[in-house]
Amino acid sequence: MQASALARGPAAREPVGVIGCGWVGLVTAACLAELGHDVHCRDIVVEKIAALERGEVPIYEPQLAELLERNRARLHFTTEIGPLIEHARLLFCCVDTPPTYSGDADLSRVEQVVEEIGDSPDHALVMKSTVPVGTGRAIARRSHGLAYVSNPEFLKEGSAVDDFTRPDRVIVGAEEDASGFADRVASLYEPLEAPVVRTDVASAEMIKLASNAFLATKISFINEIANVSEELGADVAEVALGMGLDARIGPKFLSAGVGWGGSCFGKDVLSLKQLAGNTGYHFQMLTAVTEVNELQKRRTIGKLQKHLGHLVGKTVALLGIAFKPHTDDIRDATSLVLAARLQGEGARVRAYDPVAAERARDVLVGTELCATALEAVDGTDAVVLVTEWPEFRELDWAGEVYERMVTPLVVDGRNFLDHRALVAAGFTYEGVGRPRAALAPSPA
Ligand code: UGA
Repeated sequence: MQASALARGPAAREPVGVIGCGWVGLVTAACLAELGHDVHCRDIVVEKIAALERGEVPIYEPQLAELLERNRARLHFTTEIGPLIEHARLLFCCVDTPPTYSGDADLSRVEQVVEEIGDSPDHALVMKSTVPVGTGRAIARRSHGLAYVSNPEFLKEGSAVDDFTRPDRVIVGAEEDASGFADRVASLYEPLEAPVVRTDVASAEMIKLASNAFLATKISFINEIANVSEELGADVAEVALGMGLDARIGPKFLSAGVGWGGSCFGKDVLSLKQLAGNTGYHFQMLTAVTEVNELQKRRTIGKLQKHLGHLVGKTVALLGIAFKPHTDDIRDATSLVLAARLQGEGARVRAYDPVAAERARDVLVGTELCATALEAVDGTDAVVLVTEWPEFRELDWAGEVYERMVTPLVVDGRNFLDHRALVAAGFTYEGVGRPRAALAPSPA
């Protein structure tokens, strides 16, 4: 975070509680502390709190460690809810809401938090966790006194601190009886000078789910345009550029690739679909959005087979394991699907990621995890670029990489590399949505 962006200081200092020190909770806590507020953070995992007290950060997120360090005096860590109730009136709920087998969200951790706080008219539960539409009203109906404010987060992993500093909007949803608490939540964000949208609770909850579902739809749409472009000779990068300049469409989230991953899009698309289904409404588009994404992940295998034939005994390197760059998160990452599919086809798989390899150790069973990108590409028949980490662009493709590979085949799952340079160096290059003619070597 640009320290100066937050240095304007808060309109009023407000001690806050943050329940759940996962990724959302920690980023929220660190940024609120940077804004000058005292933040009391609680997590039930004793080792996590002990590590945070020692100044260790359990997740990789750019700028987070510096921010926690700089604001140590304003950050208080505990395993108990008591200190939060004692010191703060606004209690941010940042616990996990993973999907259940039915596709509905598992709200057991949220329920636990509500129970622990109890019926306190002096406190508001400020919901940052993504919850189904209707959750806030149901909680408010049951609890006698505890106010409820919905304040969904729109942070992206890998740029969460910047996203907090420069939000496109802040959503604060509350019913009439909690409007005083909603004002206090809104004023926390005042120094960021972002538009604040005040709504009822259900609409705030829907804004969160609909935004993630729409972004996933946008990516699945451009991925389908990419697939058709490959057949018809158009270049999806140019198509996205041309489309994105239309202000009604916008340029962001139009990068075609190996499919979206991460813990949010899949869960939220499913949650919205199930919520609609529970009311008897069939949300048809969302079924397609997910299906397109699953097929997209697998298309890479077809591209390898096109050039290598069957993959039995072939060695393939995956560059990038994390679901996106600048994070060590591997939840729902395309790399996991690719590694399993490749092994299913009889290939040997190697993988490298600058930060996510350690997390992948127990998950990528049978995949050889390498210490460097060059080690991963050594002796391979193909390289698949799965995550667009900047260091992959810096590799000496024409020299060291080319020399180390048995077959110089690159499947660039993010259209990230300089395809002209690669083709000129003698590689066979496959991107996503790039016309074949552009990838053929130029006649001598
Ligand atoms: C997403 C939303 O973007 C955040 O606004 C939201 O707060 C968050 O979920 C959440 O609900 O917690 P995140 O999952 O961290 O954020 O990451 P994104 O940057 O949205 O990327 C998601 C996936 O889409 C990644 O696999 C990425 O590679 C892929 N992607 C993104 C594309 O394939 N193409 C694009 O143009 C953009």
